[in-house]
Amino acid sequence: MIVCVCRRISDREIARHARAGLGFDEIQFELGVATQCGQCEGCARDVVAQCSAACPTAHIKPGMPFPAPAVRGVAFAG
Ligand code: FES
Repeated sequence: MIVCVCRRISDREIARHARAGLGFDEIQFELGVATQCGQCEGCARDVVAQCSAACPTAHIKPGMPFPAPAVRGVAFAG
């Protein structure tokens, strides 16, 4: 679903960045979401919050391939 009509940015793209550990401000800088009319900001922030809550970055270890095996649903034995 397109979240930001002005910049044609989807919820999937925002979610992908959020799961990589970026916060809203970083995603906004990277993608340009909510930088024109601003109508999408609330929805974009909700997507970031949902992804951050569902997949906190604290469990992602340095050097771990992205997306982490646990994120893809594969047990991590390391
Ligand atoms: S819809 Fe995102 S800035 Fe206008």
